[in-house]
Amino acid sequence: MRELSGVELRGPLVQIDGALLDELELLLGGLQRDTPAHGAATFHDRLARQVGERTDFSRLTLADADGTPLAEARWATGDERLQLTRLAEAEHGPGREFRLTTPLTGAAGVVLMDRAPSLAQLASLKGLMSAGDVLLLVAGSTDASSSSYARLLSELQAAGHLLPGVRVAHVVVPEHCDMGQVLARLDAPVLRDLRGKESTAHGETGGIVVMFTGLSGSGKSTLARSVRERLQHQHLRPVLLDGDDVRRFVSKGLGFSREDRETNVERIGWIGARVAEAGGIALCAPIAPFDETRKRVRELAEQAGATFHLVHVSTPLQVCETRDRKGLYAQARAGDIKDFTGIDSPYEVPSAPALRLDLGSLTLQDATDQVLALMEK
Ligand code: ADX
Repeated sequence: MRELSGVELRGPLVQIDGALLDELELLLGGLQRDTPAHGAATFHDRLARQVGERTDFSRLTLADADGTPLAEARWATGDERLQLTRLAEAEHGPGREFRLTTPLTGAAGVVLMDRAPSLAQLASLKGLMSAGDVLLLVAGSTDASSSSYARLLSELQAAGHLLPGVRVAHVVVPEHCDMGQVLARLDAPVLRDLRGKESTAHGETGGIVVMFTGLSGSGKSTLARSVRERLQHQHLRPVLLDGDDVRRFVSKGLGFSREDRETNVERIGWIGARVAEAGGIALCAPIAPFDETRKRVRELAEQAGATFHLVHVSTPLQVCETRDRKGLYAQARAGDIKDFTGIDSPYEVPSAPALRLDLGSLTLQDATDQVLALMEK
């Protein structure tokens, strides 16, 4: 017996990491029983393999890579089951206080994904769950699942204080093993199974670019602001890139020729892509009248590993002109403003936007709900 950091050590100290450490968290968190099932090796088996000749020990102290004792493992000869006693909470790696080294107390919604979401997506998920606390299980056998989990832990380390009531765990599924069967060993009712929902070619960073395109006065900015407010309620900090606003500084000096509009919209797209690249949410609201430029913005976002959504705010010209909040349509009709979109400058209607929302007939609330639902996908 040895003393280390005030913890009484029984048996040899065995340092574990990677998949074994992840599994220890599930066991200590009361989420998994260590019973042999479906041909998958148990924690016991794999631990025995790691300690090799020393398996005749009936007690081991399991420690993380830093040597911090986490649990005592005991088993009786002939008994398949390993008895685990927690010695300390996780002290290893980033996001440690979100890891599952103590059993969850109270009701928690359990969500299963095969790739860790961004912090932003996790926050919206939490907002959707009525159960209060959320336990996110990231399951997979691939490096993609491990690296996305590692990324989430770092994000939680940095900004997880904004997300109380969230716990995470990594379920490492052996290769060539049916994941569904392994997950059946989990000792928790999974409320939402989102496996496969995040595994798109894009969306690697978890960042999102939403581009609201439509005529002047269609309600793009109002809708983008409303979406921003709702996301802020979920403790997110989306960046709003409004046409008029960007033109005041970033695109100062640009006019409304086709070329200048393209430059303006590409700049917005570029900034949006940088925001999304860092895992953020960019809400862009320029008129963006040309299909080619909108496609370019999509490319910029997707190259940055972000998810891109095009939302066409399709409020008809007549409605925009009747409202004429800024009095610009009247000036354009009078010929005082040239190249005004919808009057003497074209607006190419997007053929396949993710959403088409006419704010002449929809309420702002309905439109906002639809955009949020799209983003939560
Ligand atoms: S875009 O075509 O380059 O995407 P952007 O959204 O940045 O346009 O700017 C549009 C805003 O500029 C309008 O909402 C309006 O307030 C103002 N504006 C001034 N002149 C024009 C014009 N000729 N055409 C369109 N909008 C104009």
